[in-house]
Amino acid sequence: MPVNEKISKETGASAAAIEHHYGTGNEYFELWLDKTMTYSCAMWDQHDAQQTLDSAQLRKIDYHIEQAHALDADSVLDIGCGWGSVLDRLHTRHNIRSSVGLTLSESQAGWISQSFDHPGMQIRLESWQDHGAPDASYDAIISIGAFEHFARLGLSADQKVGIYRDFFTRCHAWLKPRRWLSLQTVAYGNSLQKDFDQFIAKEIFPETDTPRLWEIFAGSDRLFEVVRLRNDRDDYRRTLRTWFSNLKARRDQAVAAKGEEEIQKFEQYLRLMAYMFEVGGLDLHRIAFRKIDSPK
Ligand SMILES: C[S@@+](CC[C@H](N)C(=O)[O-])C[C@H]1O[C@@H](n2cnc3c(N)ncnc32)[C@H](O)[C@@H]1O
Repeated sequence: MPVNEKISKETGASAAAIEHHYGTGNEYFELWLDKTMTYSCAMWDQHDAQQTLDSAQLRKIDYHIEQAHALDADSVLDIGCGWGSVLDRLHTRHNIRSSVGLTLSESQAGWISQSFDHPGMQIRLESWQDHGAPDASYDAIISIGAFEHFARLGLSADQKVGIYRDFFTRCHAWLKPRRWLSLQTVAYGNSLQKDFDQFIAKEIFPETDTPRLWEIFAGSDRLFEVVRLRNDRDDYRRTLRTWFSNLKARRDQAVAAKGEEEIQKFEQYLRLMAYMFEVGGLDLHRIAFRKIDSPK
């Protein structure tokens, strides 16, 4: 299904902006992500300094599956499914009957269709804004590391809240009564937009602005109750440092694939983001939302 450029252009990152980053090449990301190709903050065991990235990513995936109450689910929606690690886990480990993953990246969709063959798993090259009503409502929704792209830079707080409200209203309509949405997103911490230089916005994630926590809650107010909230910013510092080390270990291959200039940009981005999480300029929220059936 074609991506509706018009809608995503006016609000969040367009498909072209998403592909600017995620279309950098599947083989390139394979060099420094973990085996599951999960591209979001992992969940580390603070007592295990030797823990591998693979294990911390699976721990995070299982955390969200549990928070979304997807263990007993028939059908699950993953909004911003990346390279499909959550959906794969649902099908291989939890025998889920049907799942839908949304992504704006053609490279990711292509990679998933070559890597997995799960009956009942559907990948759609589609923005959440264009996702129609499912035949039957979903039992659970998971969205990890995608919410950051839903509002573009330069919008007012009111405009951002409007977009987030639209997102939560749709999730509310797609879910069965009293069911759950598990969301993970980066948010501004003790920082203002002007504290960030233009490097990330221009070179790494164009057309993308992160939310503030209150904007997420204004968007979800009276649609979902917030049952659990964790700010795991130190987990993102450790994840980014690990990605940086992985990239360093395979730097020659990375440079051969992408060129010196591009690799330097990625190194700068990984270092800068790790620093922002370390000092609290950015937070990493994992939020368990439960649908309110009769909103006031
Ligand atoms: C950082 S990746 C995270 C991928 C995956 N959830 C993970 O944890 O590995 C962000 C994902 O969000 C998707 N995305 C961004 N904006 C979107 C939108 N408007 N609708 C659907 N997916 C979107 C991207 O295509 C990409 O798959």
